[in-house]
Amino acid sequence: MKKSWIPVFLLWLLFTVLGLLLVMNTTVLPAQYSEEAEVIDEAYELLEALAVPVMALIFAIMVWGAISWRSRGADREDGPPQRTSKAVVGVWLVVTISLAVGVLINPGFVGLAAVRGEPVSDYVVQLEGSQFFWEVTYPNGESALDELVVPVHKRVRYDVHSTDVLHSFWVPAFRTKIDAVPGLTTQVYITATHTGGMEDDVNLRIQCAELCGAGHAQMAMPVRVVEEAEWLAYIEGLGSDG
Ligand code: CUA
Repeated sequence: MKKSWIPVFLLWLLFTVLGLLLVMNTTVLPAQYSEEAEVIDEAYELLEALAVPVMALIFAIMVWGAISWRSRGADREDGPPQRTSKAVVGVWLVVTISLAVGVLINPGFVGLAAVRGEPVSDYVVQLEGSQFFWEVTYPNGESALDELVVPVHKRVRYDVHSTDVLHSFWVPAFRTKIDAVPGLTTQVYITATHTGGMEDDVNLRIQCAELCGAGHAQMAMPVRVVEEAEWLAYIEGLGSDG
């Protein structure tokens, strides 16, 4: 029994190294278009890296167990019962509790504070969700239903409302998400980091992220990030369109 920990340990090392190489060389995350996305992606990558040794240990025990305790044909009886090792259980509890408390603090509390940041903004934009569309109202009082246009490098506060049921304001390329709740104003701060539109990246769109009825999946709107001067001209232009 004691000897079997050596191959398990070696398999664990091997799977950990392979797993870390895999997660460091691949990404499943969409393009980043906001400062908040950078914080959230760092948190995701940290959690990914921390999960690798834990998963590698489970794989190592499974692989080694399947090899060393496999049926060798003759004996179809159950094997003798295995005693629980207090030391293994103790170490497992200490390590997993430390990991859980560690990620609760960072990226948990630390990351959440970084994403939320200071409650200051350059501009405030109103967003209203209804079955099944979004209405944007800009600081000059002009509204639009066809797209959300955002000034780059400016911190924008979105005041989010709903006229009917729960919706959720989510731009995948910005990562942040906040529910639209009837009777409440919810807020989220986003600073876009570079210009672009839905033709550059399909994740530059508002996508409703709370099941709100038959049109939920279609409750999307393109997002366009532009230079501040272009943005100011755009919102002024909305007025002259009448
Ligand atoms: Cu609105 Cu889902």
